[in-house]
Amino acid sequence: MSYPYQITSLAQYEAEYKRSVNDPAAFWAGIAGHFSWRNQWNEVLNWNFTEPKIEWFKGGKLNITENCLDRYLESHGDQPALIWEPNDPEEHHRVLTYRNLYDKVCQFAHVLRNNGVKKGDRVCIYMGMIPELPIAILACARLGAIHSVVFGGFSAQSIADRLVDANAEFIVTCDGAYRGQKDIPLKSVIDDALIACRFVKRVIVCTRTRTAVSMIKGRDVWWEDEIKKVETLGLKDFPAEEMDAEDPLFILYTSGSTGKPKGVVHTIAGYMLFTNYTFVNVFQYKPGEIHFCTADIGWITGHSYILYGPLSAGGTSLMFEGIPTWPDAGRFWDIVDKFKVNILYTAPTAIRSLMGFGEAPLKDKDLGSLRILGTVGEPINEEAWHWYDEHIGKRRCPIVDTWWQTETSGVLISNLAGITPAKPSWATLPLPGIQPVLVDEKGEEITEASAEHGGLLSGNLCLKFPWPGIIRTTYGDHERCRNAYFATYPGLYFTGDGALKDQNGFYRITGRVDDVLNVSGHRIGTAEVENAINMHAGVIESAVVGYPHDIKGQGIYAYIIHDVHHGDPEHTRKDILATVTRIIGAIAKPDKIQFVKGLPKTRSGKIMRRILRKIAEGETSNLGDTSTLLDPGVVEEIKEGKL
Ligand code: WT7
Repeated sequence: MSYPYQITSLAQYEAEYKRSVNDPAAFWAGIAGHFSWRNQWNEVLNWNFTEPKIEWFKGGKLNITENCLDRYLESHGDQPALIWEPNDPEEHHRVLTYRNLYDKVCQFAHVLRNNGVKKGDRVCIYMGMIPELPIAILACARLGAIHSVVFGGFSAQSIADRLVDANAEFIVTCDGAYRGQKDIPLKSVIDDALIACRFVKRVIVCTRTRTAVSMIKGRDVWWEDEIKKVETLGLKDFPAEEMDAEDPLFILYTSGSTGKPKGVVHTIAGYMLFTNYTFVNVFQYKPGEIHFCTADIGWITGHSYILYGPLSAGGTSLMFEGIPTWPDAGRFWDIVDKFKVNILYTAPTAIRSLMGFGEAPLKDKDLGSLRILGTVGEPINEEAWHWYDEHIGKRRCPIVDTWWQTETSGVLISNLAGITPAKPSWATLPLPGIQPVLVDEKGEEITEASAEHGGLLSGNLCLKFPWPGIIRTTYGDHERCRNAYFATYPGLYFTGDGALKDQNGFYRITGRVDDVLNVSGHRIGTAEVENAINMHAGVIESAVVGYPHDIKGQGIYAYIIHDVHHGDPEHTRKDILATVTRIIGAIAKPDKIQFVKGLPKTRSGKIMRRILRKIAEGETSNLGDTSTLLDPGVVEEIKEGKL
């Protein structure tokens, strides 16, 4: 087996890129022809960015699990689809062949149906990184239910918000999850979430840690018991539900610059095509190779490049339950060595954290199987890029710097490993089908190089034409989708990122230009953190900004006005951290809290974050124009109190 649409030379990339721009419909229809459809589509593409309305392959009928599983059973049913490495290196790993995975997905689809799940229902999945997580996801897809995976680090309150927003009546979870030394009580968090979500009909609980959990009669059932019932009934194959290309596949919540996280909706055919195409081309995957993406399936990277990309390509995907630094900082390298991993896809924050341990953890680890390295989630600094290249790739593995977003399904800008040129800390060229533009504040396309940026074009990064994996809507609130992505610059999809472009057409992503932080590759809205902080009884007002952090990329800096009569500021500080953990989850905890008497506001009451960002970065002199401030005195006070 090989991939007829895999690009194998720079010249071919250029030709394919041109073809994709000149006739996008013909380009993507050609790729769609390599998948398994029940019925041909009526129209390849129907779109406008004003509503927005985007439909790819509408009328085409398929099931994504037939493309990920059934179509490979005959040719390589005995080949590993998933390799699972547990948190504890002493525990045995598991290998699921395509046949095994197919059987288990069918079984669990029966379980879902027996428990009342129907096509179109939303199923919330809150599990650790165990094989039952992909099984649950694919079982939803087989039955036509919409999965909404919530990362295991989110709090009960966050889960409850998502359950309400998606109106999800079904949950699949675990008793607990292992992560390094920690044992996370997932079911207990779900129980807290459900106090306020009485509409949830069923919780299916998979056993992992054997921690004691409360099982509520009539609502909670054990995964294992439900499987036994299916076995007793002799139910095996589960005929895949016939779905429309544009039926929703999943909802994944992500943070924006305002309010609560929004439910990004992706639809079946476009998502499948795009994750498959980008997987095969960016990583230059060859059948039989072992692909190790270190992300959690709770994020889009795991959805696209642990699950759907590799499986739809008949590949072998390795999933790891634990963390890079436990039992020691050599864990990734042990895994690479143990399974002879060929492709390693990780985040700059992991690279920087491992860099900090030096080369000792690499001693006696054979990394010779590695062929390609990848990075994602945030801009990679040159130092980390070179360490990755030198110590992990031994200067013989191309590094792909892949820029994309939850909203894009898959990679939009990246070099193709070993095919198109790499440039440290540059994502480089757009993939075929992707048409980026840089615009200024007014939405005018930038065509003049800027002196400030060393003769490079610099602007806000937009896309002017849809690709199959583009976001379709935000669940339950289409207007929000329009506002967040399609209203800032009419006719364009706005990414929220700033970028530079060089003479070769290479792009360098410089970071978010909106009020969204990127902490260890996790997206967090400043407004979301402020709302959580403001819920603390002793807090009057707060302003949150990002600042450069050696390992996390960005850290969270909170300026807080608190009620001085309330008590010991040290206690208040801890209470605020506990509040944020309770409202959002530990990932949103501020790294620094500075208590202040006032915040720099304009006369119209707008907080001047630019000033707060500069102070958090350690800049105290060049604060720019402060004359529009209501009370310039607060700036002095804040500077003096800087942490
Ligand atoms: C934001 C999207 C893409 C999956 C993981 C994060 C930043 C992502 C890169 C990169 C520079 C990057 C952007 C983007 N980002 N990849 N290679 N270089 N920045 O998905 O949570 O939706 O976050 O991550 O700022 O907008 P996400």
